[in-house]
Amino acid sequence: MKKIISLVAIIAFMAFCGEKEQAQDEAGGAPQEPGKVVFDTTCMPCHGLTGEGDGPAGKNLNPKPRNFKTEPFKYGESLAAVTKTIAEGSPKAPTMVPFKNTLTPEQIDAVAKYVLKLAGKPVQ
Ligand code: HEC
Repeated sequence: MKKIISLVAIIAFMAFCGEKEQAQDEAGGAPQEPGKVVFDTTCMPCHGLTGEGDGPAGKNLNPKPRNFKTEPFKYGESLAAVTKTIAEGSPKAPTMVPFKNTLTPEQIDAVAKYVLKLAGKPVQ
């Protein structure tokens, strides 16, 4: 019985996260990790829940929001570069606004790490 309950819990958890990479998540993939909270509320409308650039508000943008899973990071994929893009915005697309006045440095750091995780890239 216990086994069934934990299996159900695992399936529910995976469905909630909507991604297959959970096995790599050494932190146990706590659903409320700070980066995910910021991403799901602030970035998801354009970048989509799983970072594939398919959020409802992103579909009609030109350029399109980056698909973190399949497209290269134009402005660098180191933690420092991604942090800078989020804080300062895109040098080319005004729709990717700077978030330094709306998010705290801690939130930007957390969401930058979460974006790299969605992209399956090492945080370095
Ligand atoms: C209003 C839509 C919109 C929202 C909201 C948005 N983005 Fe973006 N984002 C874009 C677009 C469009 C681009 C492509 C910019 C370009 O090509 O210059 C982009 C690009 C990026 C990139 C650049 C990747 C690269 O190529 O180097 C990162 C990182 C990023 N977004 C992170 C975020 C994060 C994190 C949030 C939430 C805090 C967020 N974005 C919110 C539209 C959005």
